Amino acid sequence: MDVKPKMAIASDHAGLDLKNKIIKFLQEAGQPVSDLGTHNQDSVDYPDYGIAVAQAVSEGKIERGILICGTGIGMSIVANKFPGVRAALCHDPFTAEVSRRHNDANVLVLGGRVLEEKMALEIVRLWLATGFDGGRHARRLAKIDGIEKNVRRRT
Ligand code: RB5
Repeated sequence: MDVKPKMAIASDHAGLDLKNKIIKFLQEAGQPVSDLGTHNQDSVDYPDYGIAVAQAVSEGKIERGILICGTGIGMSIVANKFPGVRAALCHDPFTAEVSRRHNDANVLVLGGRVLEEKMALEIVRLWLATGFDGGRHARRLAKIDGIEKNVRRRT
């Protein structure tokens, strides 16, 4: 893993086991990562943890984030509320790779109750190793930035 972006990870209780496995995997790969919780199996509200990572990405405090809840759906909904956040819910290596190449995803979202450990770690590895293709995809991302600007102007 050559690229070492500034990263944070968070999960709710349903993503805790997978979060801990991913942290170990990243540490072994020499990739620093801040663990923003949750830290035990007590039932918590996934938005609280999704906000912590997505806000840090949105404010430029970190470059990449990983979020895990049971399905990944709740965390995706939360993260994509934040300007500049492009959160991708990935279930396999193909979606992980394309989320980087085409969408320049800066937050990876995983379902702790969906993925086997081996698949999840392969997704993380590939997601961190893959770059953005740019070109026509940059034009499309600029249109997404335009949506954010228009929505903010109207509120
Ligand atoms: C928690 O039970 C579950 O609803 C949550 O982890 C997530 O799957 C929400 O989208």
